[in-house]
Amino acid sequence: MQPATELYLVTGATGQIGRRVVHQLRHQGQRVRAWVRLGSHYQDLADAGAELYFGDITQREDIWTAMTGVNYVISTHNHPQQILQIHLKSNLHLIEVAHKFGVECFTYISGLGVDQYARNAPLLEAKLAIENELLNRTLNYVILRPPLLNHYLLPWLRQLQKTGSLILTGDGHLRHAWISLDDLAHITVKATQNPAFRRQIFPVGGLPLSRWEVIHLYQKLTQSQPMIIPVPLPILDGVRWGLQWLQQEEDLGTLKTLFSHEFICGESDIKQLENQLDIQLEPLEQFLRRYLGLN
Ligand SMILES: NC(=O)c1ccc[n+]([C@@H]2O[C@H](COP(=O)([O-])OP(=O)(O)OC[C@H]3O[C@@H](n4cnc5c(N)ncnc54)[C@H](OP(=O)(O)O)[C@@H]3O)[C@@H](O)[C@H]2O)c1
Repeated sequence: MQPATELYLVTGATGQIGRRVVHQLRHQGQRVRAWVRLGSHYQDLADAGAELYFGDITQREDIWTAMTGVNYVISTHNHPQQILQIHLKSNLHLIEVAHKFGVECFTYISGLGVDQYARNAPLLEAKLAIENELLNRTLNYVILRPPLLNHYLLPWLRQLQKTGSLILTGDGHLRHAWISLDDLAHITVKATQNPAFRRQIFPVGGLPLSRWEVIHLYQKLTQSQPMIIPVPLPILDGVRWGLQWLQQEEDLGTLKTLFSHEFICGESDIKQLENQLDIQLEPLEQFLRRYLGLN
């Protein structure tokens, strides 16, 4: 096998998606620069042979240094607070610098519904602005739109496993296109490497299930009877008002939006993506069994 010459910069390399992307790229034998922060858990990335780059994504000069020699950028960093100031700004800088350096392709993980529900939802608003920045440049990009609540799937179920209880805010019957994080990383890598995917936006997701259906699946898998505490959505508004009063920045606007609508992919979109990338998405049950230690 020829030694890899192209270099991938993965931001958010210690995150749920970034870590999996780094491991999958290294498994292919690719050169990877993994953007990490001191104090995070990055040893497995170094052990897998990734080059570690220590930096703060909010610092413009750190972005310039990171971009040297890079062919592909996969942006997966996330900042849960100050979305517009930090998540948006850092991605706009990253895109600007990637363009200046003439990278081959910039891959961005956006979210389902950003084109419909961005109003009053800072994360969706930021993601839509980042998508537009990519659309308006001549730089090659791939934009993937998975369901944003998917980020919370494992943390919620792990909490359920640990405590036996879970707060369920809003209408738990609305459906989301939950997807295995391993599949999401696989799609990210394959779409970045496929020239036919350039300058396009792809909805990404699995078969839709409501949060109640996910809880029932968890009950079936664990043979347990967890305590679910339903909380009406207006209570979130009260918490939001209180936090604003205390000048705490929490993105409850986005959560409220995510709890108030369905975020699903058409079955034909899923099939098309599987065919184009020659992959088969794993059932959610299989993914949960693996990560909740239920095999
Ligand atoms: N996970 C999903 O299913 C899903 C679904 C839809 C969309 N998305 C989108 O995909 C992206 C990645 O999501 P994720 O769930 O993988 O995120 P995540 O697990 O929260 O990871 C965030 C990453 O960003 C890093 N980071 C935060 N602040 C940073 C800074 N100032 N400088 C450098 N790195 C910084 C974190 O590093 P530390 O480890 O040091 O904190 C971490 O590696 C996000 O944009 C998210 O909205 C994810």
